[in-house]
Amino acid sequence: MKKTLLILTGHSKGLGRAILDRFLDAEGTEVIAISRTALGLKRANLREIQLDLADLESLGIRLPDIFPVGDFERFVLINNAGWIGEIKPVGKLDPGHISKLMNLNLLAPMILTDAFAKAYFPLSAEKLVCNISSGAAYKPMPGWAEYCSSKAALAMFSKVAAEDLAKNGVRVFSLAPGIVDTEMQAEIRTAALEDFPALARFENFKREGSLSPPEMVADKVFYLVSHSERFSDVVQDVRDFELP
Ligand SMILES: NC(=O)c1ccc[n+]([C@@H]2O[C@H](COP(=O)([O-])OP(=O)(O)OC[C@H]3O[C@@H](n4cnc5c(N)ncnc54)[C@H](OP(=O)(O)O)[C@@H]3O)[C@@H](O)[C@H]2O)c1
Repeated sequence: MKKTLLILTGHSKGLGRAILDRFLDAEGTEVIAISRTALGLKRANLREIQLDLADLESLGIRLPDIFPVGDFERFVLINNAGWIGEIKPVGKLDPGHISKLMNLNLLAPMILTDAFAKAYFPLSAEKLVCNISSGAAYKPMPGWAEYCSSKAALAMFSKVAAEDLAKNGVRVFSLAPGIVDTEMQAEIRTAALEDFPALARFENFKREGSLSPPEMVADKVFYLVSHSERFSDVVQDVRDFELP
């Protein structure tokens, strides 16, 4: 395993927590992890930053703290923090929630990717950004206007960033994790049927046990990061590849 610095957002629970554990256990890896909640884990290779990523002013102030230069062979940014947003049809949305969701799901990953590139451009180390996307980026889902729009925009940002940064040796991926058994899915199941016509389908996913365990998805994220040369396209879906 190359000596790696991982900067991970949304590490306190769900998929991010599983990604955190997977990388913390990898030899030679240090992690800077950002969420509103600190886990307080006693791990020598972990530094937690408590930050509301929807608060872009605070993010701007903390940026210089987030991307240290050190003796690493690989720098990785995983923009994983995300929120499903209000599950309501257009016409019933709250402007405050719209901007909070866009700040968290889209603008913070854009700002962090840009800062990552600036910090590590000059280094010859391997550099990789993985933006956690969603199938919802490509499939309109009634009730999820905020979420689908944010993920679609993040996927497009990832494609442009991949082109912009290729000459600087930075790989960029937009990775859909499938349907994962996390609090986000639990939140989806609390939506009102009148606001979310697909409610029964999501209740069935849970009832039938068809949600992916976060640990299994984290293994795939780890595989992609560790073998990025085997993945040529920017847009990836964990359901499209198996672990060897
Ligand atoms: N679960 C699925 O089926 C599914 C499917 C497709 C895509 N995804 C994507 O996968 C990623 C992880 O989702 P998940 O299911 O693991 O969600 P989750 O269980 O709700 O966890 C979300 C993570 O993001 C952090 N977060 C939320 N708001 C934040 C804020 N304002 N500032 C900083 N951190 C914040 C949370 O930490 P704090 O609350 O401590 O801040 C938490 O660690 C998201 O980008 C999501 O869109 C999930």
